[in-house]
Amino acid sequence: MDPQPQNVLDYHSANALYMVWNFKEGAAVQDVFKRVCALVINLNHSAYTRFPDGGVSCVMGIGHDAWLQLGLPVPLPKELENFEPVVGQKHTAVSTKGDLHFHLRGNSDSICYDMAADLSAVLDPVAACVEEVHGFRYWDGRSIIGFVDGTENPQGAGERAYFGLVGDADPAYRGGSYLFVQKYMHDLAAFKALPVEEQERVIGRYKYSDVEMPDGVKPGNAHSALANVGDDRKIIRDNMPFGNMARNEMGTYFIAYASTFSTVKEMLTRMFTGDPEGNYDRLLDFSSAKTGTLFFAPTLDMLKDFSGG
Ligand code: HEM
Repeated sequence: MDPQPQNVLDYHSANALYMVWNFKEGAAVQDVFKRVCALVINLNHSAYTRFPDGGVSCVMGIGHDAWLQLGLPVPLPKELENFEPVVGQKHTAVSTKGDLHFHLRGNSDSICYDMAADLSAVLDPVAACVEEVHGFRYWDGRSIIGFVDGTENPQGAGERAYFGLVGDADPAYRGGSYLFVQKYMHDLAAFKALPVEEQERVIGRYKYSDVEMPDGVKPGNAHSALANVGDDRKIIRDNMPFGNMARNEMGTYFIAYASTFSTVKEMLTRMFTGDPEGNYDRLLDFSSAKTGTLFFAPTLDMLKDFSGG
């Protein structure tokens, strides 16, 4: 039987809650980690039963250093590493520490909150939550800058599995997925000050219709021109916007699942360093990456092994 992936291939729900946790210095993490693996399985099973149409899922990713600290199998997934910053002439994709990542989806805030609270209760003695972002579906699937986000994602079960899950290139980890996240803050005032036609040239698509600009019209520094590395190299993006008026923080939580991390890295290099070098992604003039971490989301079968169950 094929190994069963975590719910990495699910489509957007109305809400998402993203959390990054780091282990406390010197904490004995093994037993807690076992319980967390069992809890992740439990939360997903329970969600199917309680809310079959609720778009609920809980995906856990594990960072490189945590993998080693927890004594998980070696060799590691082939491309699991500590993310190295991508430094361009003007913008940098920073690297930040993350031991565990939780991607909680659901069509209501309540279920996301409950899953987060259950996980926190177990993790709290040995780890600290260093990032928590509440994402929401904004109108017809738009990012907070007003453009539909996700259109060119792989569609359909076969294509999503091909691009989202590790395949035969790394048999020990088949069915797992590389999970890369970045928290972006937008300078919305500056972006909104652009005429809509100019905003469209930043993304490379028309704002209201979401139709792609034709070749020859789309600028070479448009986001969709530089992020596209070919039809045979795609990733599954599940970004969501977030916003906080009191802190004047409007952003995008970028989250991607991929069969190989090198695909994501190539996208980041083209965006931040540019192609050719210096021709960087114009979206970055309005969006800065505040975090950047690579995780690996093992299959449910592996989580079961890790839980000792
Ligand atoms: C500020 C953060 C970001 C925002 C607001 C954003 C938004 C968008 C939007 C509006 C589109 C066009 C519609 C679509 O196909 O989804 C798009 C396309 C895309 N983005 Fe992003 N994005 C962000 C960061 C990234 C990053 C960091 C990557 C890769 C590491 C990336 C990869 C892609 C890809 C592969 C496409 C499809 C390109 C194509 O084939 O046309 N995006 N993004």
